Amino acid sequence: MQRTVVLLKPDALQRGLVGEIIHRLERKGLKLVGLKMIAASEALLDEHYAHHKDKPFFAELKRFMMSSPLVCMLWEGIEAVEVVRKMAGATNSRQADMGSIRGDFSVSGSANIIHASDSVETAKVEEERFFEKDEIFEYETVLSPFLYGKDEE
Ligand code: CMP
Repeated sequence: MQRTVVLLKPDALQRGLVGEIIHRLERKGLKLVGLKMIAASEALLDEHYAHHKDKPFFAELKRFMMSSPLVCMLWEGIEAVEVVRKMAGATNSRQADMGSIRGDFSVSGSANIIHASDSVETAKVEEERFFEKDEIFEYETVLSPFLYGKDEE
């Protein structure tokens, strides 16, 4: 079982897409184990986007991410990291497949609605970055036997 971090960016909140995106992730069969809103600090974004710090869009990316609160979520499922990345679609929404979140709801390469952890290793780092231990919930769902086969783990 994997956990993956999803951040709904300011454009998702401003455009009233939060419910739609949660609905998609729920209907897919993923399990919501963490959910909160934050006002991202510059220090948090410096850490989160450290790999982009030399890119020309770094300052604008941080301004955008601080322009409204973020909705932070932790989703759980078998291969959840890859599943959610596919559901999010390509970074540049104009190239994202129709049916993906970015493909369906965005026309931008920067205001692209959603962040999703890009690897299992990154997901673990981001989980610790965005969630305290007591903000993560472990619980049984009655649906589990109908979501996965007995041979899957
Ligand atoms: P994401 O892939 O979630 O994380 C890095 C973000 O930087 C990306 O989404 C976009 O929001 C933003 N980004 C990537 N490329 C550009 C670009 N060329 N110009 C502006 N913003 C960008």
